[in-house]
Amino acid sequence: MAELMTEWATRIAETELSAALPRRWAHTRGVAERAVGIRQLLGADAGLLTAAATLHDVGYAPRLAVTGFHPLDGARFLRDEHGADERLVRLVANHSFALLEAEERGLRDELALEFPLLEEPLLMDALVYCDMTTTPDGGRTSARERIAEIISRYGADSVVGRFIRRAAPELLASVRRTEAALAAQPR
Ligand SMILES: [Fe+2]
Repeated sequence: MAELMTEWATRIAETELSAALPRRWAHTRGVAERAVGIRQLLGADAGLLTAAATLHDVGYAPRLAVTGFHPLDGARFLRDEHGADERLVRLVANHSFALLEAEERGLRDELALEFPLLEEPLLMDALVYCDMTTTPDGGRTSARERIAEIISRYGADSVVGRFIRRAAPELLASVRRTEAALAAQPR
């Protein structure tokens, strides 16, 4: 079941990203690898986390960029073109505190009404962890370095820069909670 969901997600993400946005595809594969690496934390939802990690940035694909806000574009695409699982769609729509970026873009209500936050903190945190510990090229990094890199890439006063500076404490707290849960796992 988990394997099927992962294969399905990989096929979609590869189709949309690998040729059009190779660097985003490399990042995506790294985030998915992190998800596989922490699967023991999620139990029955391990496949869901890996699928969400694989599809979290699919909305960057040029042909899917309708609003230009990738969590919303990606979630709508998965819902409308693929009839994706509701929890998966809500995870993609809200990944890495997208609600705060939606606010910067005047899309907060639209996002929140269409794709309510998933009230499953372990899954939400785990997806933040996977995204925030992966470089744009798919390598491993720390959340602090990742945030600093995003600010330098987009500029501190850009929409993304403002968003990431506001979201930083939440992002770091999510990563810390996930690390603590991993450390508490029996080996
Ligand atoms: Fe993203």
